[in-house]
Amino acid sequence: SNRIMLGPLVAAIDQGTSSTRFLVFNAKTAELLSHHQVEIKQSFPKEGWVEEDPKEILQSVYECMDRTCEKLTQLNIDISNIKAIGVTNQRETTLVWDKETGEPLYNAIVWLDLRTQSTVESNICYFSCFIQHKTGLPISTYFSAVKLRWLMDNVEKVHEAVLSHRAMFGTVDSWLIWCLTGGKKGGVHCTDVTNASRTMLFNIHTMDWDPELCKYFDIPMEILPKVRSSSEIYGLMVSICLQCLGDQSAALVGQMCFKDGQAKNTYDFVLLICLFSSYPVVSDHGLLTTVAYKLGRDKPACYALEGSVAIAGAVVRWLKDNLGIIQTSTELEELAADVGTSYGCYFVPAFSGLYAPYWEPSARGIICGLTQFTNRSHLAFAALEAVCFQTREILDAMNQDSGIHLSQLQVDGGMTSNRLLMQLQADILCIPVVKPSMPETTALGAAMAAGAAEGVSVWSLNPEDLTEVTSEKFEPQINPEEETSIFSSVPLGFYILGSMFMLI
Ligand code: G3P
Repeated sequence: SNRIMLGPLVAAIDQGTSSTRFLVFNAKTAELLSHHQVEIKQSFPKEGWVEEDPKEILQSVYECMDRTCEKLTQLNIDISNIKAIGVTNQRETTLVWDKETGEPLYNAIVWLDLRTQSTVESNICYFSCFIQHKTGLPISTYFSAVKLRWLMDNVEKVHEAVLSHRAMFGTVDSWLIWCLTGGKKGGVHCTDVTNASRTMLFNIHTMDWDPELCKYFDIPMEILPKVRSSSEIYGLMVSICLQCLGDQSAALVGQMCFKDGQAKNTYDFVLLICLFSSYPVVSDHGLLTTVAYKLGRDKPACYALEGSVAIAGAVVRWLKDNLGIIQTSTELEELAADVGTSYGCYFVPAFSGLYAPYWEPSARGIICGLTQFTNRSHLAFAALEAVCFQTREILDAMNQDSGIHLSQLQVDGGMTSNRLLMQLQADILCIPVVKPSMPETTALGAAMAAGAAEGVSVWSLNPEDLTEVTSEKFEPQINPEEETSIFSSVPLGFYILGSMFMLI
């Protein structure tokens, strides 16, 4: 036949907050062969609430797989060569379903959701040390345990299913893997250490669910998925091997971040930087300690410091959908470049409170420093600066917590195609910003981990044997003294003001 012989292929299901994608790579060369993307609807039933439909999420995965396979077939590529699929996903988003009917018992409560704010506030003083010590996390609405508690307390169907031993809890990875491996007819109920470490029920020292935390939140351990490493086969979909890895961890693997002191930032809907260590470093500066990955059942866990910012790239969508000052995301760069300055306008996009390093759920966004001269270009520039300033705050916290001065920042995610943003970021950080030429690092990382587990990938996941990644480097073009004064005099004050605003 005319079929192209490429050898083994590996794939990734990338289930993010705003869309689902399926991507297929050549296992030997890492070349992206085909992909398909489907948007996911978000619903906002009340102020601060964010939900998604678990069935729509599952359906979007099937649709992306079907369409990608059709595209591959049109290219004469034999889809039976797909040997392993890595699931990579939005983390913390919480689901409960009935294992007998296979039906979700409520919508998925998305990581950004603020409905648990009062639970968090009532626990902060008494238990934050106890929880941070075990989990590496500050008490926040961000993590799954408080969302699960809310479901058990407020949704009758969830309450009943828990009592009658029919409930299963999971983050999106668990839900998808359970469904794809057979669902109510014997699906595998599992997660990996990276996703588990975001639930606030997982002990990052013992690397297992923590009985004391489960007791504290009054969550029966039988509803929790089994925790596996981030690179091993959990089950089969038809004859293809499945496994998972949280999206930020997958991006670390895709960026080949295997050495201590490497940092990466994914510019999209969450902003994050990591630094590795073979032991968990507890942050004194508002960062999270998280499990970066465990690449094999018998491999050691690697830890990272993480600074998650709830709203980074989402600010672009807000300017487009809510203010209408741009029609497409790509217009933002042009608009901001027209003026090349915010002219004293500052934008704090604390739409879902402030995450790292403040952890202030009651903060709300502000735009300030407006004059009659301010126009939409200045606002666009201020939005880009906001993303960069937030990164700078996290990087400063990383430097202080780790004692290592990070010498460059590896970047990925949708916003990295904005060259003005990349240059601005290098200027504001005073270190080079390095962007890989293959932008799909999250999916690549998940596919690499799955391929390694199945033994079909030639990419090494071994730190001693790094693959060269081709990349583009943005060097800082501003002198450090000038930059430090820009950063320290105004924006930081405004970030604090943003967080104080709602407290007054
Ligand atoms: O912690 C939330 C994060 O995993 C979501 O990422 O890219 O789907 O918004 P993203």
